[in-house]
Amino acid sequence: MDRNFSAVYPGSFDPPTNGHLDIITRASNLFPNIIVAVTDNVNKRHTFALQERIDLLRKSTKYFKNVEVLSFSGLLADYLKKINSFVLIRGLRALSDFEYEFQMALMNRKLNKKIETIFLTPDQSYTFLSSSMVKEIAMLGGSAKTFVPKCVELELKKRFRNR
Ligand code: COA
Repeated sequence: MDRNFSAVYPGSFDPPTNGHLDIITRASNLFPNIIVAVTDNVNKRHTFALQERIDLLRKSTKYFKNVEVLSFSGLLADYLKKINSFVLIRGLRALSDFEYEFQMALMNRKLNKKIETIFLTPDQSYTFLSSSMVKEIAMLGGSAKTFVPKCVELELKKRFRNR
């Protein structure tokens, strides 16, 4: 096995939150390299463009030596094959995440049988956090300060300033 392999943490990160960063921190302590792989989730309408989400993640993870932020399109299983990775990281916040994550893990394994999905649990203070909730708070004039990195807070303020 290549000891320098990258584990992939995929998601739409629209926008990245402190919960995502908590998972990235844990993953970066466990694996030699982490690729945060940003994509469009075909089932969601995104608030931030793909490049904006990548830029925000790059700013938020600049102090990690073994974390790289990239994007992919198409099937995640194909992307892993292409970059020669077989480890997927996903965050499990609560039991309610389980069914969707379980289904996705099995489907990814069906599509590429080498893939192993590793579930990490964020700090319990982030178990209630989601990107849509953060956007709703910002949209309604609340402060997202405690939930997101500084660069995301500023971007949310700009985005929803005129509402
Ligand atoms: N802290 C805070 N929030 C978290 C979190 C954490 N640790 N972990 C997940 N979330 C939230 C996200 O904020 C997001 O909230 P939202 O629904 O309010 O936006 C939600 O949980 C899930 O988001 P995310 O983890 O970004 O994943 P996703 O469900 O948007 O994207 C992909 C899933 C991109 C991995 C999946 O769609 C995919 O693989 N797409 C590629 C196409 C493909 O291969 N499809 C077949 C898959 S089997």
